[in-house]
Amino acid sequence: MTYCKTHLILFILTLFVGRLLNAALPVDFTNEVRPILSEYCFHCHGPDKSTRKAKLRLDLSEGALRDLGGYSAVIPGKPEDSELVFRLHSEDKEELMPPPETGKRLSEKQKKILEEWIKQGAIYEEHWSFLPIENPVVPTKSSKTKSIHPVDRFLAKRLESEAYSFAQPTEKKTLLRRLYFDLLGMPPTQKEANQFLTDKSDNAYDQLVDRLLADQRFGERMAVHWLDLVRYSDTIGYHSDNFMEVSAYRDYVIDAFNENMSYDQFVIENLAGDLIPESSKRQKIASGYNRLLQTTQEGGAQAAEYTAITKPIGFETLGLFGWVLLPDAPNAMITSSTLLQLRIFILSQPFLLIFRKNLWAEEILTFTCQLLNRK
Ligand code: HEC
Repeated sequence: MTYCKTHLILFILTLFVGRLLNAALPVDFTNEVRPILSEYCFHCHGPDKSTRKAKLRLDLSEGALRDLGGYSAVIPGKPEDSELVFRLHSEDKEELMPPPETGKRLSEKQKKILEEWIKQGAIYEEHWSFLPIENPVVPTKSSKTKSIHPVDRFLAKRLESEAYSFAQPTEKKTLLRRLYFDLLGMPPTQKEANQFLTDKSDNAYDQLVDRLLADQRFGERMAVHWLDLVRYSDTIGYHSDNFMEVSAYRDYVIDAFNENMSYDQFVIENLAGDLIPESSKRQKIASGYNRLLQTTQEGGAQAAEYTAITKPIGFETLGLFGWVLLPDAPNAMITSSTLLQLRIFILSQPFLLIFRKNLWAEEILTFTCQLLNRK
């Protein structure tokens, strides 16, 4: 073999081995990295100013990359030069992170995840509710199941690394009962049960699902969850707990589910249906969302006592689940000034809330549209 050929083979081998070593799967920031940082680091290096140490924030990319005097906590692509990685392994008790007195220690696996994430570029993914919805790649077939159903495929992928297998398919009767409770919230009638149990066709189950999705009760069942979330109630909630007529809003939600209304449209109509140019009666009813709160008509009410009710407005709706209203709250992920402005705006309206007037204005509509990227 000539010198040149040997080198070529060695070179190709190196490439191959290199590829194998680099073949680590992409690290998932939201599901793998953030939970570790959140559990072990954010208490002292997170959004809460009052407990922050060393002026270091690891919840934001800018914080992690910031120059700390010739070095940084994170240097994308270079775990070996990143102070964060050094601190995870340090044998000096004064340097080790998290500090030993917290009683918390990262496992080797967790350290590897952080290192691999830095190696792969230390990307901070935005909160999921701001990311466009994409169809995930369905995992290919697995030894754990013959099913071609995408949900089974995702489960199978996870089960590959667990000592569990799929349960056997359940009997028709049980399946029927579960489906009725899941989709309609009630058991089938005898007649409905027979229709499925005597149907011997291959797609009997698919047809049953279609039937239930088309059933008026499906919207009612789904609306229960939403109405809970937005504090739906037909009384005012304070002392005398007087009746409050909002059932039209409940019917709107049921119809929205049954018509499979798109979520962005639903959010816009909920937050500001009354401000949509030439809005329909139904859209105005939708904005009844803003009146779903504990409220009082008492003359001597103190505004400040009621500002708490402004907290969740709109935020579960936007998928942020209430925890971003205070930009410096321990669990805040978003420090956008827009959110701060919105909060100030809402808090400046307490009297309107108390007297159950509609508090909504152009700003809310503009804000919502911005978030949803709509004109
Ligand atoms: C209980 C509080 C606490 C926790 C939890 C904590 N740290 Fe720290 N961290 C500190 C303190 C205090 C300092 C400053 C003293 C020092 O440099 O050791 C510090 C310093 C650092 C520094 C160096 C900053 C600089 O300016 O040089 C890094 C990097 C760091 N921590 C990373 C982490 C990581 C990563 C985690 C989670 C795995 C973590 N810390 C968890 C308290 C904490």
